Amino acid sequence: MIRERGLISVEQYMGLCNALYYATRDPLGAPGDFTTAPEISQMFGEIVGAALADCWLRAGAPADAAYVELGPGRGTLAADALKVLRQAGFAGEVHFVETSPVLRDVQRQLHPDAEWHEALIAIPEGKPLLLVANEFFDALPVRQLVATEQTPVKKESGAKDPGATPFKVVVDPEMRLKLRAALIELIDYHDEALAEHFAEGKLALESYKEYIELFARSLKETMESREGVAYLLRAAGFEIPPEQINLQPELRWKRGAPGAFGKTLL
Ligand SMILES: C[S@@+](CC[C@H](N)C(=O)[O-])C[C@H]1O[C@@H](n2cnc3c(N)ncnc32)[C@H](O)[C@@H]1O
Repeated sequence: MIRERGLISVEQYMGLCNALYYATRDPLGAPGDFTTAPEISQMFGEIVGAALADCWLRAGAPADAAYVELGPGRGTLAADALKVLRQAGFAGEVHFVETSPVLRDVQRQLHPDAEWHEALIAIPEGKPLLLVANEFFDALPVRQLVATEQTPVKKESGAKDPGATPFKVVVDPEMRLKLRAALIELIDYHDEALAEHFAEGKLALESYKEYIELFARSLKETMESREGVAYLLRAAGFEIPPEQINLQPELRWKRGAPGAFGKTLL
């Protein structure tokens, strides 16, 4: 494939290897390549089933709820979980998302009435789902991201603790220097503009305190404007027109509302 079409991504490579690996064998359990929790003890699936039964009962035992499992392997986890669920009164459909034909055949022996799907998107819509996935997501292809000139964070070797992850993500030091220089220029510009206004008699200031208040306010206004943010972005190497700047970005990864920098610094 590489010879015919050229280089492929890590994601494509892992996807192809993974598909071929699972499509051609049952790798689970003692005779296979590795084992998983449900293959070691029935308690694992039974506990999952008990937890699901509890959720289902507390939701009012909806009759249209369906048991859905992603990558069910040999169907062992589903068998143990459904044993408990059925005892609790659950009589819903069973849906499996499984791409391996070999494993589908193994699953069919334990679950002849289940329905199989190639992808999660094919699961019937509009039903409450009891969704299970064990050792599934780590079998999916990973997308590798590479830091470039346009990336504000970089991977850096953080080798002090040999047990720790070999990389830490840091804000690009070069970018920080550029931002710092741009800020100093902005401060100089505001200071000079104010001094000029004062010298020309356009500003009547009673005290140094008044000067600082005015200076801080005009700096804050610039920093909060689209033009101010576009200026800082330009200094860091990003040409983004002011009209495309979002002044209220969602900081979903931060807990709570972002605090004012001024307050946290003082
Ligand atoms: C590591 S096994 C886990 C099996 C089972 N859940 C268990 O705990 O024993 C991964 C499972 O995911 C399935 N699988 C891998 N990639 C898949 C994909 N892209 N879509 C659906 N199933 C996939 C494999 O065929 C296999 O059933």
